[in-house]
Amino acid sequence: MPRREIFAGNWKMYKTLHEALDLVKGVLAGTSDIGGREVVVFPPSPWAKPVADLCRGTKISVGAQNMYFEREGAFTGEVSPLMVRDAGCRFILVGHSERRHVFGETDDNVNKKVAAAFQNDIEPMICVGELLEERERGLTGAVLKRQVEKALDGVSGDQMKKVVIAYEPVWAIGTGKVATPEMADEAHRHIRRIVKDRYGAGTAAALPVLYGGSVKPDNIAGLYAMENIDGVLVGGASLKADSFLDIIRVK
Ligand code: PGA
Repeated sequence: MPRREIFAGNWKMYKTLHEALDLVKGVLAGTSDIGGREVVVFPPSPWAKPVADLCRGTKISVGAQNMYFEREGAFTGEVSPLMVRDAGCRFILVGHSERRHVFGETDDNVNKKVAAAFQNDIEPMICVGELLEERERGLTGAVLKRQVEKALDGVSGDQMKKVVIAYEPVWAIGTGKVATPEMADEAHRHIRRIVKDRYGAGTAAALPVLYGGSVKPDNIAGLYAMENIDGVLVGGASLKADSFLDIIRVK
């Protein structure tokens, strides 16, 4: 069974409203003929609704970069799953390395957010990845196993059909140091094995696993050619329509 192919752009804390709308219009203009490829953009929260309004009925889906796991309450500064969905978001990014390492999110937090996403009909794109020091100490496999297993705790086989995992080695994010296609493929294969052990071969074979970390128009072809790389999660190079489109349109 062919897997979904997903090209996602994480805009992080960039873009004014005007710039965000210009960017998504530029991406929309180049995505009419991309066949079955799926495109997802993650604008900053205040722009989710206006961006989603522009994307309705198009090939682009919208996601939120973060949310809290509680339904509602006295949580100043947080955004609830219901708000995310009401804004028109189909996806939620969970466990991005900047959330884990700048804002102290734990595997337990990630798991609660995944559960909250499913309760609210939002599809989680779960980010995992090792630190440079963990890779150097040979701990990559163990770190990925812990992150994936904890994130998916309590997720049913049926819900797994809506899960996307993004492998983003922390040392490759925003640094210009991209993992080699072979390194990434090996990590993706490992992630698929972890999922297979819990959910079986069919679920593992169908799971879209994206690579993220300094993906650019000039390195996408090598990554995308790998058997276990089903798409990419792009930060910096998704901030310009031209470079994001060059990535989306990789041969
Ligand atoms: P980058 O970011 O492409 O700028 O390295 C990737 C990400 O953080 O998802």
